[in-house]
Amino acid sequence: MPDGSGVQRKLLSVVGARPQFIKAAMLAKTFKDKQEIKHLQLHTGQHYSPDMAQVFFDELNYRPDFDLGVGSGTHARQTGDAMIGIEKVLMDEKPDLVIVYGDTNSTLAGALAAVKLHIPVAHVESGLRSFNRRMPEEINRIVTDAVSEILFCPTPTAVANLKSEGRIEEVIHTGDILLDTLQHFLPIAREKSNILKKLDIEEEPFWLLTMHRPANVDEEHCLRRVIKCLAHDNHPRIIFPCHPRTAKTLKKLSSSELDHIDIIAPLPYLDMLLLEEHASLILTDSGGVQREAYFLSRPCLTLREETEWPETLKDRWNRLVGIDPERILEGIREETIPTQSPDIESFGGGRAAECMCREMLGFLENQAA
Ligand code: UD1
Ligand code: UDP
Repeated sequence: MPDGSGVQRKLLSVVGARPQFIKAAMLAKTFKDKQEIKHLQLHTGQHYSPDMAQVFFDELNYRPDFDLGVGSGTHARQTGDAMIGIEKVLMDEKPDLVIVYGDTNSTLAGALAAVKLHIPVAHVESGLRSFNRRMPEEINRIVTDAVSEILFCPTPTAVANLKSEGRIEEVIHTGDILLDTLQHFLPIAREKSNILKKLDIEEEPFWLLTMHRPANVDEEHCLRRVIKCLAHDNHPRIIFPCHPRTAKTLKKLSSSELDHIDIIAPLPYLDMLLLEEHASLILTDSGGVQREAYFLSRPCLTLREETEWPETLKDRWNRLVGIDPERILEGIREETIPTQSPDIESFGGGRAAECMCREMLGFLENQAA
């Protein structure tokens, strides 16, 4: 430690995709005033377009120490390139612990590269399951949990999932770090973001739409079904910040099929938070956006058949409608604001980052003893 009273621990976070920058920024902030921690950040480069990466680094004051620039590709190519690059950094830096987040290919690459070098792995957002193995994320979650030593669970369901798989040691219900992040950045978003004015939606109700799951957006006919069923004269404006994966398929639809939707570029986090807070309804297939809708007490229709976040379904704040037009329209017709408040405590109440920090230091101390 710099003051000479102990040992400084070297922790290395592996990130690569938009939601990971947001979560890792919160943990980095928590580590900042802990003298006993040196925190390095490695960005695989899985997300690289300025509005998917740099804009978050600037806004969240997040500075990766390494950028591997792996870019897009098939699962094996992207994961393999990331593993090779991560391995080199780990061999040079020799961290005491590697932290991985969520369920992307960068998560998997980080966990595998570390465990093979006998470096313990802490998995943030451990224990989540969709029980749908056709989702690339489900495979990433199962493998990452299997090789991680510290399992940070965001919800009681995540803890239960791991227990039912026989994992008991180092399963810790920390809460959801995305809640900590939201609680920290929402007041800043209210002060700084002018997105409502920019989109001219200060006075009128609007809905917020996001879609990026391969099963929903890679095939033109799936995306068309959702977009088409949202065209109704009595629907308010629909704002659709569009993920680059979705943008590729949207190009195949004609402009007349899209004229009832405001398609915009991916948004910076602060703008996104403010839009979520003011939307009268959120339609999404995103894991992060489902939870943010819940934390902000906004009704949400999830355009999937299952969710890793069943806590959000409580009191019908969130409802699963898939991409079937009839069910989406039924969800819209039945839309009400539940009277019960969201159960924020089951997501840790905003204390996840502090809890993770404490647990990681405790784990390293025990290892050294
Ligand atoms: C990835 C994660 C997903 C996560 C999402 C968050 C995997 C398997 N998937 O999905 O779990 O929910 O990130 O947003 O890791 N592209 C760009 N610019 C970029 C990034 C991507 O144009 O900066 C385009 C490329 O055409 C690329 C496509 O988007 O082929 C998909 O990107 P990729 O990183 O493979 O997966 P995501 O759909 O972003
Ligand atoms: N997000 C954002 N801008 C956008 C869309 C999403 O800042 O245009 C944020 C959102 O608020 C949440 C996170 O990105 O914090 C969710 O990321 P995404 O939907 O890409 O991935 P998922 O959570 O499904 O893995």
